[in-house]
Amino acid sequence: MHPIDLGAGLLRHLPAETAHRATIKLVGMLGPLLPEPAPDDFCLAVNAFGLDFPNPVGLAAGFDKNAQVPDGMARFGFGFVECGTVTPKPQAGNPRPRLFRLVKDDAVINRMGFNNDGSTAAAKNLRARRGKAIVGINIGANKDSSDRVGDYAWCFSELAPLADYVTVNVSSPNTPGLRGLQNKDELTKLLGIMTNARAQLYDSAPQTHGMRKPILLKIAPDLDLQALDEIADVVRASGIEGLIVSNTTVARPPLKSRHAEEAGGLSGRPLFEPSTRVLAEMHKRLGGAVTLVGVGGICSGFDAYAKIRAGASLVQLYTALAYHGPGLVDRIKNELLACLKRDGFARVSDAVGVP
Ligand SMILES: Cc1cc2nc3c(=O)[nH]c(=O)nc-3n(C[C@H](O)[C@H](O)[C@H](O)COP(=O)(O)O)c2cc1C
Repeated sequence: MHPIDLGAGLLRHLPAETAHRATIKLVGMLGPLLPEPAPDDFCLAVNAFGLDFPNPVGLAAGFDKNAQVPDGMARFGFGFVECGTVTPKPQAGNPRPRLFRLVKDDAVINRMGFNNDGSTAAAKNLRARRGKAIVGINIGANKDSSDRVGDYAWCFSELAPLADYVTVNVSSPNTPGLRGLQNKDELTKLLGIMTNARAQLYDSAPQTHGMRKPILLKIAPDLDLQALDEIADVVRASGIEGLIVSNTTVARPPLKSRHAEEAGGLSGRPLFEPSTRVLAEMHKRLGGAVTLVGVGGICSGFDAYAKIRAGASLVQLYTALAYHGPGLVDRIKNELLACLKRDGFARVSDAVGVP
């Protein structure tokens, strides 16, 4: 067993949030000492929204909320790392306990509530990076904000120049009212303000701010077909580059663990089926108009492959990492390669959305 996986095994005996904090500390200390991961097989390379990803397997938002360890996490073989959610002002989040392992279900329920150190702290961490991993920054609004759309614009202006892409998160179930931003009118306004903020940033200083940063929208899995129609229309008209499907669910499929009734968002294995269904629905509606990122319940390369066949060019995971440790990333990539080979695809991109 790899010593890192052994360490991850020991951490699983600590309360969930304590284990998470210890992991961030350990990766901060040891990450730079870990060897660079072996180069990925060229079959796994993906070009999406102007970026060259070495492989399609990313770390989902919520693990590294303050952008403390993106390059350390990339050493475990991730093709990209999404940090955040970051809000303009620091906020403590909900009272503890707010993170629950549902071991018998390979799942987690969280109601963290966007605990983070605020956008200035995240910017400082991103500026101090020495690594070269592809890093996305996921942005949101403060719980007590009187101008939620203004919060996104603020975070965009402060953080977009320091990241490779920006995710607009309107799907956390743990900030009351936030998911209302997925409604047609509110979403049209929000994405309009995002693309304007991008145009202003770029026009004001194209050299310093580098390329026009891709914007992705992250949606919930708990949306009916009419809501999906409307979101697809807004996304297509908005000029953004991608859609992440999905965040955690407020639904409660049958679960075996004792924490099943806790309030919050459910992630992990039980989310795989509903989030993949929404992904396939959005692929039907958007075709190749924007890049789709599939997330929710990925525990193996077979799961990642299923998301890709459902329309995802890239995938992300979080919960399975907490259960299986960082060795999971290599396992997923190897299983994914085997699936591609078995079905006669030369590259990941050839399998995207193939029924
Ligand atoms: C503890 C925890 C915290 C999370 N925090 C965020 C967050 O801040 N922003 C966000 O967009 N998603 C957040 N997520 C959702 C994940 O990014 C992902 O969409 C979801 O967990 C489904 O993937 P998984 O089943 O692989 O975990 C969080 C998930 C967990 C388990």
